[in-house]
Amino acid sequence: MKGTFRMLDKYISDNNKGLVRRLLSENFKTQAPWYAIAIVAMLTIAGMTSASAWIIRDIVNETVVSKDLDKVLKVAGIVALIFTLKGIAAYTQDVFLNKAGNNIIARSQSRIYAHILKQDMAFYTRFPSSELLMRLTTNAQAARQVIDLLVTSFVRDLFSLIGLIAVMVIQQPVLSLVSFIVGPAAIIGIRTLTKRVRRIMEAELLSLGKIIENVQETANGIRVIKAFSLENEMQARMQAHVSDVERRANSIARLEAASSPIMETLSGFAIAIVTALNAIWVLKGGHSPGELVSFIAALLLAYDPAKRLARMRVSLESGLIGVRKMYELMDAPLTLTESEKAIDLAPGPGEVRFDKVHFGYQDGQPIFDGLDLRFEAGKTTALVGASGSGKSSIINLVMRLYDPQSGSVTIDGQDLKAVTFRSLRERISYVGQDTYLFSGTIRHNIALGRANATEEDIIAAAKAANAHDFIMQLPQGYDSDVGENGGKLSGGQKQRLTIARAMLRNAEILILDEATSALDSVSETLIREAMARLTAGRTTIIIAHRLSTVTQADTIMVLDKGKVVETGPQAELLSREGPYRRLYELQLLPDAGPPA
Ligand SMILES: Nc1ncnc2c1ncn2[C@@H]1O[C@H](COP(=O)(O)OP(=O)(O)OP(=O)(O)O)[C@@H](O)[C@H]1O
Ligand SMILES: [Mg+2]
Repeated sequence: MKGTFRMLDKYISDNNKGLVRRLLSENFKTQAPWYAIAIVAMLTIAGMTSASAWIIRDIVNETVVSKDLDKVLKVAGIVALIFTLKGIAAYTQDVFLNKAGNNIIARSQSRIYAHILKQDMAFYTRFPSSELLMRLTTNAQAARQVIDLLVTSFVRDLFSLIGLIAVMVIQQPVLSLVSFIVGPAAIIGIRTLTKRVRRIMEAELLSLGKIIENVQETANGIRVIKAFSLENEMQARMQAHVSDVERRANSIARLEAASSPIMETLSGFAIAIVTALNAIWVLKGGHSPGELVSFIAALLLAYDPAKRLARMRVSLESGLIGVRKMYELMDAPLTLTESEKAIDLAPGPGEVRFDKVHFGYQDGQPIFDGLDLRFEAGKTTALVGASGSGKSSIINLVMRLYDPQSGSVTIDGQDLKAVTFRSLRERISYVGQDTYLFSGTIRHNIALGRANATEEDIIAAAKAANAHDFIMQLPQGYDSDVGENGGKLSGGQKQRLTIARAMLRNAEILILDEATSALDSVSETLIREAMARLTAGRTTIIIAHRLSTVTQADTIMVLDKGKVVETGPQAELLSREGPYRRLYELQLLPDAGPPA
């Protein structure tokens, strides 16, 4: 292994060495048996390739010169053996190299995915989904390609080349010298292409990411695109990215293609010179024609491995760009982690408190500056306040999607930082504004609320959420497919499904982010009923936008610029000329009118 690394050093630019070292040490060990078999096969290929050049001398000398039948048959037998062995070795190499490679991809993908699942919300703002997709697919494959390239180059190609050079030197020592002068000259030419290809390749990957991003945005925002007739604009944006990729792909192709003809032409010259010189030599006597043909065969056979080795650096550098991006993701530090001494959150009534909480998403931009709060167990608290006042930030902290910079968030007196994620999340239900549904059936989407829920539990939850009736009207009932992000359901139906999911979870603490979108009054009545059942007896924190929601809450908490400016029941707050009174008059959404 050490020797391989030293050999690598000459081939790889400084900033990529560590990367290759890591790639090999992380993947080689686990795949060692498969690579060992593939390497034996490659050595066999290298040996047989050289042998096939060597045997040509005997073919020519025995069949053309000596014409001894016994010897000719022996040579024929050896030729058959050489090519059979080579065939078997080629098959073995392919199978085992693939086996190891596919496993490397699979393992990398699982590893990356497990890592990104543990990441906090800030991570997902930093890496958009298109970027994650690229890194999990294309870049994981690059890891495999780089390893394949290294193994085939340093084992099969290098040893083939060494073997063939040995054949050349033994058959025609002087003439070999000529080839060795021309060969390296070509390699130097190729190397100058490396750097340019790498730069273009990096830009290419970036543009590719943009294309994916554009398609994703189209799929997610198709309503807006259609409603605002943004088709032309989107098309133009796409066109720009697509043309970028096209142009760069052409540049890369041009540069890469240039390396072949350079080698080809030089080899042609080399062979021509060698042939001419050799012919003179043989005519002068002393050498058999078999030696000449064997030499030329070895020279021709050496062309391919030599070409691949010369181009290896170009291919390697471009593959390593993908590998670097993959590792960047794998190494993204986990900022929000479970304490090593984390214990399960002990059951309790579900009182949530903030004590001197200092929090900001970015350094130097505090959102909360010593915030103290208390959400009473079993009661409903409505959070109201202007946009940007910190409502969502509060629920982010309660769910521990972020940690405060100082101070503490506690549930029944237990600091969230000291408890296991699992036990914390088990105690909390969340119904968001965006009613996110996963692709799959209705049953599956409700069942996500609790592991191993029975069919009865699911139906009971759906009934309580006023969802059972509409589900039964669907052709396939609970087995109906919801479509991507619930695309086949109405807004009100989706909301009722997410309520059913929360109902099934049956947690003491309920966090609700009320939808701002208006629903028709029938739908709204159904949802309000379902909500009333859901919130009964739970500690409920609700970001309220509607007057009716606020009116039903036990306590109202008014936020302004990250501070609680007023708190108390609605009647009390309305009796003062305070901030709530102003919000009440200006901001809260009225309810839909009575059913028509
Ligand atoms: N992920 C984030 N990164 C950086 N800043 C953020 C992030 N999320 C929110 N903020 C900032 O934090 C402040 C409080 O935002 P928050 O989302 O808590 O407000 P809100 O009361 O929920 O508003 P809205 O009613 O519009 O949802 C805002 O100034 C906002 O710009
Ligand atoms: Mg918000």
